[in-house]
Amino acid sequence: MHTMLIFVQLLTDFRQLHKVYMNKNKVLEQRVEALQKMEENAAHRQHLKGKLTARERINILFDEGTFFEFDAFVSPSQTPQSSRPTNFGDGVVVGRGLVQGRSVFAYAQDFTVLGGSLGYAHGMKIAKVQEMAFKLGAPIVGLMDSGGARIQEGVKSLAAYAKIFRNNVRSSGIIPQISAILGPAAGGAVYSPALTDFIFMTNQTSYMFVTGPDVVREVLNEEIDMEGLGGGNVHAQKSGVAHFVSDDEEHTLLLIRKLLSYIPSNNYETLPVSNLVRVYNSRQEYLNKIIPEDTNRPYDIKEIINIIVDKDSFFEVHEKFAQNIVVGFARLNGKSIGIVANQPKVMAGTLDINASVKGARFVRFCDAFNIPLLILEDVPGFLPGIEQEHNGIIRNGAKLLYAFCEATVPKITVIIRKAYGGAYIVMSSKNTGGDFNFAWPTAEIAVMGPAGAIKIVNKHELSKSDNKAELEKILADKYKEDVANPYRAEELGLIDEVIIPSKTREILITAYEILSNKQYTKPARKHGSIPL
Ligand code: HXC
Repeated sequence: MHTMLIFVQLLTDFRQLHKVYMNKNKVLEQRVEALQKMEENAAHRQHLKGKLTARERINILFDEGTFFEFDAFVSPSQTPQSSRPTNFGDGVVVGRGLVQGRSVFAYAQDFTVLGGSLGYAHGMKIAKVQEMAFKLGAPIVGLMDSGGARIQEGVKSLAAYAKIFRNNVRSSGIIPQISAILGPAAGGAVYSPALTDFIFMTNQTSYMFVTGPDVVREVLNEEIDMEGLGGGNVHAQKSGVAHFVSDDEEHTLLLIRKLLSYIPSNNYETLPVSNLVRVYNSRQEYLNKIIPEDTNRPYDIKEIINIIVDKDSFFEVHEKFAQNIVVGFARLNGKSIGIVANQPKVMAGTLDINASVKGARFVRFCDAFNIPLLILEDVPGFLPGIEQEHNGIIRNGAKLLYAFCEATVPKITVIIRKAYGGAYIVMSSKNTGGDFNFAWPTAEIAVMGPAGAIKIVNKHELSKSDNKAELEKILADKYKEDVANPYRAEELGLIDEVIIPSKTREILITAYEILSNKQYTKPARKHGSIPL
């Protein structure tokens, strides 16, 4: 009897349990259905604007089927229970996936939920994924499409932003942080992307500004539209806020995948090595005649870069901003390097404020993530002028000098042509800590160029001369022969070797191999005081 009673009880329990699970499954099913409906609605609304949904973006960013989403049902902290099914996720999709098989965390804002605005729950989801990426040493990608701080949530929303900013700073130099602006980014919200390492934008569908066109009109009486004030091209060309700009979202997301292929997952990981065939560019011999006879004639430094590095591996960063300096990643024998090169084709390759800041930022990123540096030098000096002086070429030029001096990654400089004065020193010269400093026979290393030098040194001689032009030419030629060449520097050990241009690639591969075990110790300090 006792056994019978127990059985009846068990059956009752089982039936109840079954009922509970059925109900629970139903709740789960309903929630998933609600999420699916939201996604369909989001697709409709976003596609009308020529934009993708947060999940569609995520699908392009990650290797197929690898994205693991969490916190999908987090709801706004300040909405009634009844409206939750339309706001699941609180306007942001977060999770982790693989990019070329490597772990990457991401968050993607969903403009169709409360304008992608950042409420407290939304902000905490971002903070959580940031903290996971930090803890697990993986890059984080933020896909922004948001109306900024959620107005209804007031200071809670601002507090969430503050946490995100702090996480950005804590992760800086430890994991790569990448932002793509794929819609609005206005007000203080712009400062999270601004704290990350790379910003991508899309033309016509994204914009960033601290105060929008309406405020500009009211305060300054100036008329400008969103694109003109803070569109992709403005930030890629003028402000330098954006590192990359594309015509469509898909291209933007594929470019992020490409960027990730060059950089390590964190500051301790070794660099990714490409499995791509390491094709030599067959034009190595062309390097022996690429520099024009007339030393004032320009040439394209990118042509030299593309010949030296593995074929098609050069990936330029900040392509449209401060084009007098070229920075970007490339592979040399399959291994990532960071390149900083003067561009004689633009402003004769002089260093100005923007070029100095652009170069410094790139050098510091490479140094933080152990990416060896290659410096290709052809620089006649800092750009002279009232505008440059008054806007702080001293303070800003010092940033590039600081960055090179501070960098402990392997640093190899190749002086291609001009290396004059302070600019020579700045571009990772020997005594700023260059590990190998090579020069092509066309190098001119001196305090200044012949034209300026003879006017000072031979002032009296020239003032007395009947044929000033001819004397100038004679003196300039003599100066080049005696002073502005690479051999004096080589004799002093300030150039390790004058090399044949066509051998550059071969020599660089060996030199980086020699430097691969580079050890360094840094003096103990909290942090340096870079001239910001
Ligand atoms: C709450 C918001 C919102 C916000 C947009 N929405 N921004 N809800 N807080 N900040 C809502 C809208 O009410 C609307 O809801 C939906 O999102 C879509 O917005 P629309 O205006 O219809 O879209 P659109 O015409 O495309 O215009 C987009 C926009 C505009 C330009 C972003 O919404 C806008 O100006 N928003 C306010 C931007 C802003 O000033 N943010 C605060 C910035 S300061 P319905 O229900 O109608 O669909 C800031 C401080 C951060 O962020 C500080 C950090 C330190």
